[in-house]
Amino acid sequence: MQCMNTTAQKILITGGAGFIGSHVVRRMVTLYPQYQIFNLDALTYAGNLENLRDIEDAPNYTFLKADITDQEAINALFEAHGFTSVIHLAAESHVDRSIIDPLVFIKTNVMGTAVLLNAARQSWKGAYEGKRFYHVSTDEVYGSLGETGFFTEETPYDPRSPYSASKASSDHLVRAYHHTYGLPVVVSNCSNNYGSHHFPEKLIPLMINNIRNNKPLPVYGKGDNIRDWLFVEDHARAIDVIFHNGKNGDTYNIGGFNEWKNIDLVKTLCAIMDKKLGREAGTSEKLITYVTDRPGHDHRYAIDATKLNKELGWEPSLQFEEGLEKTVDWYLTNEAWVKNVTSGAYQQYYDKQYHER
Ligand code: NAD
Ligand code: TYD
Repeated sequence: MQCMNTTAQKILITGGAGFIGSHVVRRMVTLYPQYQIFNLDALTYAGNLENLRDIEDAPNYTFLKADITDQEAINALFEAHGFTSVIHLAAESHVDRSIIDPLVFIKTNVMGTAVLLNAARQSWKGAYEGKRFYHVSTDEVYGSLGETGFFTEETPYDPRSPYSASKASSDHLVRAYHHTYGLPVVVSNCSNNYGSHHFPEKLIPLMINNIRNNKPLPVYGKGDNIRDWLFVEDHARAIDVIFHNGKNGDTYNIGGFNEWKNIDLVKTLCAIMDKKLGREAGTSEKLITYVTDRPGHDHRYAIDATKLNKELGWEPSLQFEEGLEKTVDWYLTNEAWVKNVTSGAYQQYYDKQYHER
């Protein structure tokens, strides 16, 4: 069952050159040849067109280089292409960077979302049949949990980092455009993703890269913070399901039912990589180094994805260990990708972030 008008969709996907966006673009281009897919991305440090090499020549795919904070440029693109839907992923996405430089997060995540909402509203002019503005957000807007309990769609917002506060603000704007102007929106809040094409500033790809290169594995604080991990292709599938069948104005939580303490996760990665790299068991664990904690570090995130499961039938497809193995294999066979994204600016960021701890 598909609730959206699916015949002549022209879908604007923002942030499609990033980690999750590239998986969403690939899925939509491949599974729905009848749709025109437009990938709009500013190609910041996190955006990489190499992520989409395999589908870049598909007849239903177009790349548009633009900045979502540029209202004139975004309006002009709506005018030129007549987008019928938006799947909005473009964002500054890394908590540690938001602690170093919050304003770029406010600009991109808050202003950028407002610009897109304005452009959609102006372009669709109240003719909302078959239209949809899908906003992709994070579970971090709900704040931090103690040892028990889960985030549901009713959990009050309590963002605690500049990143999560900027995402919370963008979520509020999306819902405000729905309530005030009737814009057809849907929002999803997802837990931590992992998988291929993940920029190695985030925990899992950073640890894989450092294990491979025999570099220290920087675990913040005591390593007892907890995250709920979801394979990125399962997130892309959830976005597809919600885009087509989600209820106008609703919010859906997406999660892996898969909570891990950081230190246990890092040790599991070490064990997987010792095997893959032919190292004696226990070798990589010796690289673990406890470093100064992240300021305001949220203790635990855990998503209750029951609504998405009950209403739209979605569930995660992979066990975590299987997903981690696939992810490690991808990084080990795509060394050139890693080399490319970790040269230059990445090295400067890494030195600033870790050598002063
Ligand atoms: P990412 O950092 O890998 O990619 C972000 C993309 O947005 C990049 O391609 C970048 O070039 C682009 N971008 C940044 N600023 C832009 C601008 N001003 N104009 C146009 N494009 C711009 O991020 P990700 O991890 O793929 O996350 C995608 C979305 O999913 C974000 O909205 C994030 O908040 C959300 N999310 C991420 C996770 C996660 O675990 N990574 C979990 C839940 C939700
Ligand atoms: P991260 O991948 O940055 O995602 P988020 O902070 O958005 O959940 O971090 C995941 C967890 O790993 C988080 O508790 C912080 C911790 N962490 C480390 O211990 N060391 C690191 O080098 C990084 C990047 C993260």
